[in-house]
Amino acid sequence: MEELTIRAMRESDLPSVVAIERLSFSTPWSETSFLNEIYKHNSTAKISVAGERVIGYMCANQIADEGHILNLAVHPDFRGRGIANTLVKNIIEELKEKACRFLYLEVRASNNAARKLYEGFGFSIVGARKAYYTEPKEDAVIMMLRI
Ligand SMILES: CC(C)(COP(=O)(O)OP(=O)(O)OC[C@H]1O[C@@H](n2cnc3c(N)ncnc32)[C@H](O)[C@@H]1OP(=O)(O)O)[C@@H](O)C(=O)NCCC(=O)NCCS
Repeated sequence: MEELTIRAMRESDLPSVVAIERLSFSTPWSETSFLNEIYKHNSTAKISVAGERVIGYMCANQIADEGHILNLAVHPDFRGRGIANTLVKNIIEELKEKACRFLYLEVRASNNAARKLYEGFGFSIVGARKAYYTEPKEDAVIMMLRI
């Protein structure tokens, strides 16, 4: 694979990001949702790039000492190669520098790949949200990491 880098998401990345989003989720975020994350003062939106190609992304925000992973996906052709691991590691390091102490996220109960990914970083289950997701209707598991 070509050289991998992680950098801040730009407006020009949005068509590629939205294409991956649509391949990854049954209720995908709109382009406007990503645009908001690029410009909100308390949000971080990053992409993973192989050569010139956008292959993954992650959005997170921070309020006081709490961070929240809002979105994460890797293009199906590039999964299983450690791309999500590098994105999560990158965001944890950045939030640590910003004095963030707790990092939260919601994940579909049946999303074993994502749950394993987060468990690998030491996230643990701290709660659930009933019927949080639609298409199909499903509970969210809430996970938290002390950083
Ligand atoms: C979840 C997702 C982001 C993982 O991306 P990825 O780049 O393939 O993940 P990585 O290769 O970095 O794998 C990191 C760890 O995640 C876990 N993992 C990833 N894919 C897995 C799978 N198919 N089955 C089980 N565990 C898996 C493993 O623990 C893995 O560590 P290991 O390689 O040491 O076993 C990707 O599958 C994806 O985009 N899915 C659709 C969108 C999504 O579900 N996003 C998360 C929403 S909360």
